[in-house]
Amino acid sequence: VLEQKENQMASNGIQPTPHPKNRIFSGVQPTGNLHLGNYLGAIRNWVTLQADYECIYCMVDMHAITTFQNPAELTASTREVTASLLASGIDPKHSIVFNQSQVHAHAELAWIFNCVARMGWLNRMTQFKEKAGKNRENASVGLYAYPNLMAADILVYKATHVPVGADQKQHLELTRDIAQAFNSAYEVDCFPLTEPLIFGEGTRVMSLRDGNKKMSKSEPSEMSRINLTDGPDEIAKKIRKAKTDPKPLTASIEELDERPEAKNLLGIFAALSNAPVAEIYQRFDGAEFSQFKKDLVDLAVVEMSPITMEMQRLMDDTSYVDSILRDGAEKAAELATPIVKEVQDIVGFLRP
Ligand code: TYM
Repeated sequence: VLEQKENQMASNGIQPTPHPKNRIFSGVQPTGNLHLGNYLGAIRNWVTLQADYECIYCMVDMHAITTFQNPAELTASTREVTASLLASGIDPKHSIVFNQSQVHAHAELAWIFNCVARMGWLNRMTQFKEKAGKNRENASVGLYAYPNLMAADILVYKATHVPVGADQKQHLELTRDIAQAFNSAYEVDCFPLTEPLIFGEGTRVMSLRDGNKKMSKSEPSEMSRINLTDGPDEIAKKIRKAKTDPKPLTASIEELDERPEAKNLLGIFAALSNAPVAEIYQRFDGAEFSQFKKDLVDLAVVEMSPITMEMQRLMDDTSYVDSILRDGAEKAAELATPIVKEVQDIVGFLRP
């Protein structure tokens, strides 16, 4: 059937874009500045992956407005988050860096996916339930359809791999469901089944105030997270005041499972020092929190300060940051436009 369909497409003049072999897409919402969770769970891995993949990294401003954003702050955050990516080591000569709203193909494919995804699938999304809270009737339609736009972000490039933190896993499963449903409804092999890349010791960094909650931009307390804009004094203060328990540290995994704050801080140490957690558990077995926290402050300052400083430098050069985004959008559109046209042809949209 597939072969027949491809022949039919060819006779209609449709040129399927070949499946790329190793193409990465990932995105981050430009809502306020980034925190250590974004960095350890995602951005740092994005930097590493540049060596082996063709990479596309996106400030997802269309996702950001699914909850209201002050317009001036959205603009500023888009630049700031771009600066954080560059300061962290994303190389715009190698990777495509741009903001979502500038590449129309994302919105175009998202609409088609709105017509492929089922209400039942979206009703299962835990992130919608968390973000909409009790007042679901008042959530925007965009917040509900958010995962369809995310699938479009990825599949409009036929991306093969998506590096993210653990919280995005369910959305990536939905992306595969959408790809499969589209391919099977139209009897084509258009979209790949994208693989999530969730790796490293920082896939789920927790709040410094509550070891059971994810470190998040939406948490009201600034003390709950380390921001990429924090200087050494702020980092030290936040780590010193991070919630702990009265007992000394331990290497016992069973015990740490019952002590989420201790486990989280040890996990952050492991991620920042690029060491396996088991090694860090051993190293601080029996240590007092006071000593451990001193070591963690030193490590965090050494690792994060160069990024913060470079970010500040870039923030003073908005015309450079804007030029990166402009070039990136152009390159991204070159890849996405033929793919969205292919999809429109498959669906049967007339392109006279
Ligand atoms: P966002 O903006 O919430 O987060 C960006 C990246 O940071 C990761 N992350 C974390 N990792 C570990 N611990 C944490 N506490 C933590 N908090 C955030 C996220 O997993 C993510 O990788 N829906 C996405 C943005 C998006 C996207 C996409 C991602 C839109 N389209 C397509 C991949 C592909 C989001 O809201 O990420």
